[in-house]
Amino acid sequence: MIKLQIPATSANLGAGFDALGLALEFYNVVEMEESDTIEISSADATPIPTDENNLIYQSVKDVYQICGKKLDGLKMVQTNTIPMTRGLGSSSACIVAGLMGANTLLGNPLNTDDLVDLAAQIEGHPDNTAPALLGGIVTAVFDGRRVHWVKQEVYTKLRFVAMIPDFELKTEKARACLPSEVAHKDAVYNLSRAALFSASLLTGKFENLRTAVHDKLHQPYRMALIPHAREVFDIAYAHGAYAAYISGAGPTIMAIADEENSYFAGKMRFSLDNIGLTGWKVQDMKIDNKGCILV
Ligand code: HSE
Repeated sequence: MIKLQIPATSANLGAGFDALGLALEFYNVVEMEESDTIEISSADATPIPTDENNLIYQSVKDVYQICGKKLDGLKMVQTNTIPMTRGLGSSSACIVAGLMGANTLLGNPLNTDDLVDLAAQIEGHPDNTAPALLGGIVTAVFDGRRVHWVKQEVYTKLRFVAMIPDFELKTEKARACLPSEVAHKDAVYNLSRAALFSASLLTGKFENLRTAVHDKLHQPYRMALIPHAREVFDIAYAHGAYAAYISGAGPTIMAIADEENSYFAGKMRFSLDNIGLTGWKVQDMKIDNKGCILV
């Protein structure tokens, strides 16, 4: 069996809708080997499809098809630490596991660019798939066929603290609520902030992050789909977060805090409990710079 470790990802980073994403030290693990039959199981009792509808299996099959190889079956064991349908890149982690796993089983016929392109084609946008594969913060443009990307490793004293609701928000629903057109000034509002985010993160100008995560393309519409979101943002800022934004399509709210703000996650937990959000999880993470790796 080969064993892959795939990071959670946080996409958009506020203003960089469908363009920016980063990987986090919070991982799914997938073990797989070729087999005569399909034999898929979960190591941690997370309910997963155990037949051909399994997203990892489908991604493995795509690579075999592209490379002209026949896939009779697959034996696979999944450990799903990344919560599903919460805006932390769980489906991208599955796609990347399948693509990288299949490529490894076949002796690496596809290169990194091929895998980045293929993952974005399957998911529809590259901002979760590319960092899940590459690690770090990834700036990506998907032209419909190819992804033009830059990965930058990030070594900061920042922690990314995810407030993960106890309800799901499907990406399709979170995209369906967005307007089909935006005003020119709103486009400028976003592109300037998206650029400011990566430049500030990479140069340590963290005081810019609060301005950089504001946007007019998706968060104002998605807030309505996430009960208590406004309160959670306010609490995060009250506890000294540099910035807070909706992670990916939501419903997770991500806060960026200084490493020296040692008790930030504990304070968030306490405050969420105080307003009755006892079912929400608080996950304290650092940036992952490795992406999907064999372990
Ligand atoms: N950029 C995507 C969105 C991320 O916001 O819809 C979700 O996969």
